[in-house]
Amino acid sequence: MYRTHNNGALRQSDVGSTVTLSGWVQKSRDKGFMLWIDLRDRYGITQLILDEERTDADLFKKARTLGREFVIQIEGEVIERTSKNPNIPTGEIEVLVTKLTVLNESKTPPFTIEDQTDGGEELRMQYRYLDIRRNPVKENLIFRHKVTQAVRNYLSHEDFIEVETPYLIKSTPEGARDFVVPSRMNEGQFYALPQSPQTFKQLLMVGGLERYFQIVKCFRDEDLRADRQPEFTQIDCEMSFVTQEDILTIFEGLTTHLLKEINGVNIAEFPRITYADAMRKYGNDKPDIRFGMEFGELNAVTQHKEFNVFNQAELVVGIAVPGGNKFTRKEIDKLIDWLRRPQIGALGMVYCRCNEDGTYKSSVDKFYDQEDLAKWADVTGAKAGDLICVLSGAQDTVRTQLSALRMELATRLGLRKPYEFAPLWVVDFPLLEWDEESQRYHAMHHPFTAPKQEDIHLLDSDPGKVRANAYDLVLNGNEIGGGSIRIYDKATQSLMFDHLGFTKEEAKAQFGFLMNAFEYGAPPHGGIAFGLDRLVAILGGQETIRDFIAFPKNNAGRDVMIDAPAPLDNAQLKELHLKLALKS
Ligand code: AMO
Repeated sequence: MYRTHNNGALRQSDVGSTVTLSGWVQKSRDKGFMLWIDLRDRYGITQLILDEERTDADLFKKARTLGREFVIQIEGEVIERTSKNPNIPTGEIEVLVTKLTVLNESKTPPFTIEDQTDGGEELRMQYRYLDIRRNPVKENLIFRHKVTQAVRNYLSHEDFIEVETPYLIKSTPEGARDFVVPSRMNEGQFYALPQSPQTFKQLLMVGGLERYFQIVKCFRDEDLRADRQPEFTQIDCEMSFVTQEDILTIFEGLTTHLLKEINGVNIAEFPRITYADAMRKYGNDKPDIRFGMEFGELNAVTQHKEFNVFNQAELVVGIAVPGGNKFTRKEIDKLIDWLRRPQIGALGMVYCRCNEDGTYKSSVDKFYDQEDLAKWADVTGAKAGDLICVLSGAQDTVRTQLSALRMELATRLGLRKPYEFAPLWVVDFPLLEWDEESQRYHAMHHPFTAPKQEDIHLLDSDPGKVRANAYDLVLNGNEIGGGSIRIYDKATQSLMFDHLGFTKEEAKAQFGFLMNAFEYGAPPHGGIAFGLDRLVAILGGQETIRDFIAFPKNNAGRDVMIDAPAPLDNAQLKELHLKLALKS
């Protein structure tokens, strides 16, 4: 038996008992005549003690040679500490060691295994197994497990069944690039790893399963960010005989359940906003609604004077920054510089201070009087003490820029509180979006999303105006889920492929299997997929998903621990018929 207790278990009431413990040496403090060792395992830390008086001399000597991260087993007696540590659960006791076995030695770790480590990101990723020994990483993984478990419980209880779908498939059009796998047995042919199990879950509905879910890896070869990994996990769900309303209700239930179970938060409200309103009010299809700063459109109250920048703009739009009047001139100039960076690309910013005495002071006082500025305040909802920030230009561009400014200011002002949760449905997404590069329409969600019945007639005349039965779930300004009601008849699916510029042959070659299935009594169906990594990170009060993934990739898509991706040797390349890639 390696242990009678774990290292987080012993308390005052155990004093006097003989115990066996195992774990890693966190650190030792050697006073010469007395030695303390912090013994760590997943459950906590127990302090061990050895001293000249009570410990056998050989044992004492051996204990003094232990290095950090050695794996040891000890036997000893639980005794009361003379100076107690109220900060840890085992802080009232220590164990007087009577026997010590070294189970394994350890090289000195390249960084300290402490909550605040001295190891940089790259080093920690290279030795991720050591990083996982640290509490913050370990706790994130345990947290992820709890969320996953709560998801499984909820969905199983709601009659969903978990079905695995294949990883070696044909390309699924979710908008990113595919990772591909060459086939040894089929020369010159490739599998693609799924960007999502989208078509399979629809086929499971044709198969009559009615309620499916899967906690599943998805693979997308796209540029990486804090909230994106090339392989990530979805909570993928599909239901038959449901309307959009049914789906929103079930997954509102899941979200509410998780917030209650995991965070102890009761969600009183689960608002919905249309895509069009989200863009108008927040310049963004995933608005963070935990703070105000809604956009105020100022064309009507700015375009009657001589200020040509505004007069020529398609949209003049502003936000009221709460308490922003306290910003110094220098701080505002810095903000303008921030807006001018190429990532944001604004030409400049007009601002207006709302003084405590009810007067206004703007950066364009030459053109606008107090009466004008009072109207700006009215439209943006600015109060005394606020700062009105105004941008102008082409509608879409300026909304995106102001949205970035809104988020940046909210972060700086501490308005994005990690443990305050505000979920939101964004509904009525456009069905199609225009792609400048290929000069054609793309499916905004994916090609299986059903258009709104009342908008279908616009497909030929004004395709960009057609709305879809598609929805996203947004939590604290992050898109954590997205889904739609699907097309379930061959005629509409085929019409959709036409509008996406697929020839009949291309559609048949890529999606013939789905179109065929639709000829055998496909039920009305729809679904959603949550990004599990994102969901877990946000419930955990953070936004970087890497911290909640055991073995993540870095920003270049590399696993620096196993050093992947890596070249193949010639024999393997040959076997896979990858002649072009053969090394000389
Ligand atoms: P979608 O493409 O919106 O929908 O993906 C669903 C959710 O997955 C998460 N997500 C990611 N998380 C981490 N890294 C990534 N690279 C990444 N890409 C997406 C997001 C997103 O909301 N088949 C459809 C779902 C459906 O229609 O039912 C789909 O995959 O949180």
